[in-house]
Amino acid sequence: MKVRRRLVHRFITFELYANFSADSVKNMANRRFCVGGNWKMNGDQKSIAEICKVLSDAALDANTEVVIGCPAIYLMYARNLLPCNIGVAGQNAYKVAKGAFTGEISPAMLKDIGAEWVILGHSERRAIFKETDELIAEKAEHALAEGLKIIACIGETLEEREAGKTNDVVARQMCAYAKKIRDWTNVVVAYEPVWAIGTGKTATPEQAQEVHAYLRKWLEENVSKEVSASLRIQYGGSVTGANAKELAKKPDIDGFLVGGASLKPEFVDIINARK
Ligand code: 13P
Repeated sequence: MKVRRRLVHRFITFELYANFSADSVKNMANRRFCVGGNWKMNGDQKSIAEICKVLSDAALDANTEVVIGCPAIYLMYARNLLPCNIGVAGQNAYKVAKGAFTGEISPAMLKDIGAEWVILGHSERRAIFKETDELIAEKAEHALAEGLKIIACIGETLEEREAGKTNDVVARQMCAYAKKIRDWTNVVVAYEPVWAIGTGKTATPEQAQEVHAYLRKWLEENVSKEVSASLRIQYGGSVTGANAKELAKKPDIDGFLVGGASLKPEFVDIINARK
């Protein structure tokens, strides 16, 4: 039954994407759609319990992998309230396992309380907390070595886009990751244009697809053909229940990283965007 459902899903996928090359459609079907919620520094026990109930009761597309980036202090609480097929992620982790680093948490600690993922390099960490490409890459290297899966964020500012530097910026950010990452199996990249984050100004499906396609080309030329074909690249920036379906149709968009809307019931529609 499961195999039949998968075949039907693939057939529909092929029908929908008749305009794209056979290779890109095949690769797309092989990458499991992955939707992350990034709650950022929001929520309390009451509201988190409510969101977890919505997610537990909803009919979620079994073909989509779901990960919730929860404030560190509530990770264990959310882990206990969410069904086990929904992963939980820290929103940051330091580059070593333990020691005198007041205020930090380590990948080992995340794993210890049942989180399998960590979000790294978010633009808010880059801009507000002055994290550099190099520090983020070191964090990525250590998190992967500790057995966590990572959502590695990248993205350009409005100023950089308007100066025509989008590709250069995302290439620079990818290059830093690539210097430290040897095995990309447990990596998901989130392309989040900074100008689209929390602004209600979503990138158009075409704008997002253009950068995602560039990232695949960059990966093919600088990492490998295999990684370029298999690495999942999420789009993030003002994704809503209303715009997710159109974005999800693009062949190089393999999911979303969602801020504001992941705190609302419409997150279910985003998870089900490919359904
Ligand atoms: P919004 O969906 O609120 O724009 O945030 C996107 C984001 O930063 C996810 O990491």
